[in-house]
Amino acid sequence: MSEDLSLATVIYNCRAMRKIKPEEVPEEKLIQLIDAANQAPSGSNSQRARWIVVRDPLVKMKLADQNRKYAEPYISADVKNPGSPKLKRLLDAVIWQMEHMHEIPALIVACFDYPEKVQGIDIYRQAGSVWPGIQNLLLTARSIGLGAAPTTLSLRDQDAIRNILRLPETFAALCLIPVGYPQGKFGPVTRKPVSEIMRFDSWS
Ligand SMILES: Cc1cc2nc3c(=O)[nH]c(=O)nc-3n(C[C@H](O)[C@H](O)[C@H](O)COP(=O)(O)O)c2cc1C
Repeated sequence: MSEDLSLATVIYNCRAMRKIKPEEVPEEKLIQLIDAANQAPSGSNSQRARWIVVRDPLVKMKLADQNRKYAEPYISADVKNPGSPKLKRLLDAVIWQMEHMHEIPALIVACFDYPEKVQGIDIYRQAGSVWPGIQNLLLTARSIGLGAAPTTLSLRDQDAIRNILRLPETFAALCLIPVGYPQGKFGPVTRKPVSEIMRFDSWS
């Protein structure tokens, strides 16, 4: 039986998929992801989100090195003392991704092209005009059987990323999304109940 892939099913089953097979993804599917991302809204319909789909092994290696440089210290305290089996599973997946990122078939870097040179905290000013596209991309990937996960630790050093990807100084790199066929199964996300995160009219 074919999978029910209504929008709701995709939304409720779009977990961060970090363990990815090295198998190549057809180019038309990668273009389909960017085309879906490109349908998202942006402030004043500026349409200044830009997408770099990295398949070159050498460039992937350099991005993987950036991810390791910042992911390793970020998780080290939790790795020593994971606390819960759930956190341990998450950390195992993050470590797997760290060790295999260069083998993942496509690393998609979502950028915003500002009208002027940007640096420091200003790179996030227009992040809201890129993240809706990122979510479109993640949902589309899930709907066509591709695994993907948003990452940001890999992009902490914007100068290094600009160098690696030969980005103009007007570009801010906001999210790196490794994409490919999943090793594991897709499953439902677990989130707090709506009663905890929503109120009508005012908070208290
Ligand atoms: C803004 C943002 C930044 C993230 N950065 C990273 C990251 O650097 N590395 C990583 O492995 N996952 C990263 N994630 C993925 C989250 O860890 C993941 O979405 C969250 O744990 C929920 O996972 P689930 O959807 O599988 O339940 C990021 C997600 C978001 C939205």
